[in-house]
Amino acid sequence: MALSSFSLVILFLLPTISMSISHHQPNTALKSMHFTLYQHDNVNKTGFLIVVGVSGLVVNSTASPLGSIFVLRDPLTATQDPSSKLLGEIEGTSITSSFDGLDNLSIGKITLNLKGHKGSISILGSINNLIRPSDVPVVGGTGDFLFVQGYLGVSLVNFQGANLIYKLEFHLYWPPYAASAIMD
Ligand SMILES: *[C@@H]1O[C@H](CO)[C@@H](O)[C@H](O)[C@H]1NC(C)=O
Ligand SMILES: *[C@@H]1O[C@H](CO)[C@@H](O)[C@H](O)[C@H]1NC(C)=O
Ligand SMILES: *[C@@H]1O[C@H](CO)[C@@H](O)[C@H](O)[C@H]1NC(C)=O
Repeated sequence: MALSSFSLVILFLLPTISMSISHHQPNTALKSMHFTLYQHDNVNKTGFLIVVGVSGLVVNSTASPLGSIFVLRDPLTATQDPSSKLLGEIEGTSITSSFDGLDNLSIGKITLNLKGHKGSISILGSINNLIRPSDVPVVGGTGDFLFVQGYLGVSLVNFQGANLIYKLEFHLYWPPYAASAIMD
């Protein structure tokens, strides 16, 4: 729905910007990548509560009060098994941003070391803790991911004591100008 209305907007914009894109190859297929990695967050080992949120707000064991700040540096692996192939790492901060303690404003840089693709992507968005999968926008990247856009589907798939496992479903799209920028 959002995508189709976006392409409609593009269609209407094309006549006005065709001058500036006329020297590009027409009909070049847009590059995209879709894959899944697993994030292992180990409380007090790779993920830490740095700031305790507003006191006096009632929250339960699966939520933290508004204003709680977590900082993490978690490994990303190929499967849920923590000893499976290491394919990346996430450095991130998450700030509890709802009064019920369930929404986190999340900021992250994900370094990826995939076969044929090395670099990083940056994410910024809201993660709804435990309740349902969240879509977090990709706001850019470096290296082989320069200019990349898209989103991550984030969900908590395993909650065993201090070891949280998040499933990260990557949906990455390169805008048309990325190819020429990388060649420059
Ligand atoms: C914690 O509180 C939230 C929001 O009120 C609720 O949805 C959730 O079920 C609660 N979790 C537990 C373990 O009680
Ligand atoms: C979101 O915040 C909760 C505490 O409210 C924390 O337990 C959880 O790990 C955070 N999730 C993410 C993805 O940062
Ligand atoms: C993490 O460390 C804090 C502060 O030392 C402690 O209160 C908390 O219980 C620890 N949590 C776990 C799961 O080890």
